[in-house]
Amino acid sequence: MKILVTAGPTREAIDPVRFISNRSSGKMGYALAEVALSRGHEVTLISGPVSLPAIPGVRLVRVVSADDMSREVRTLIPWSDALIMAAAVADWRPRLPSATKIKKSAQVRCLELEPVPDILSEIRAGKGDRLFVGFAAETGSVEAEAHRKLQAKGLDLIVANDVSAKDAGFEVDTNRVVLVTPDGAEQHLPLMSKRDVAARILAWVETHGADTGSRV
Ligand code: CTP
Repeated sequence: MKILVTAGPTREAIDPVRFISNRSSGKMGYALAEVALSRGHEVTLISGPVSLPAIPGVRLVRVVSADDMSREVRTLIPWSDALIMAAAVADWRPRLPSATKIKKSAQVRCLELEPVPDILSEIRAGKGDRLFVGFAAETGSVEAEAHRKLQAKGLDLIVANDVSAKDAGFEVDTNRVVLVTPDGAEQHLPLMSKRDVAARILAWVETHGADTGSRV
């Protein structure tokens, strides 16, 4: 299959030296790309700024902002049989980023933010028969939020995790996730390496995308 994976955070500029971002390290998305390649898939990885090395054999598209990521996802969707959105895309960005460094003397007290369009919702109309897998990063009500986001974003599978746990979610090598599908089923996986979580997700994608055939 042709698998498109997004990974890492996005950065939303405040001025040329400052930005708003989040704690995503890209480890889950890179594990997905690496494991997909090892299972014989063609893989394109759209990555926000992370400190992980490129994966030989995986086509890497580097992006910075949510706008960049949205553009690259929309370009590559027609190529793909499955999209796995592991990226922690910004929800908010500064409304008017400054072209020059904001000086301390400007005494800025607050930043005006505007919402970032949701990439999965934006591309929903062009989904066709390809599989869309999303992630849900939560600090509570994990299952309820997973069901809500699965419906709201029109996904085939959502991988939910509690990012407030020390041994799961952002920055660490392990994860404890719940897989939720549109039939309402919840599969609670135990704590495992992000590579093993990736293998479980890809096994699901292979089973459910088996009849998608090859595209471009
Ligand atoms: N996502 C997206 N575009 C955004 C934000 C998120 O496509 N602008 C995707 C993420 O890649 C993920 C899924 O939506 O696969 C859920 O992201 P998450 O941050 O958990 O949820 P949000 O929709 O941002 O909602 P909230 O922040 O309120 O929990």
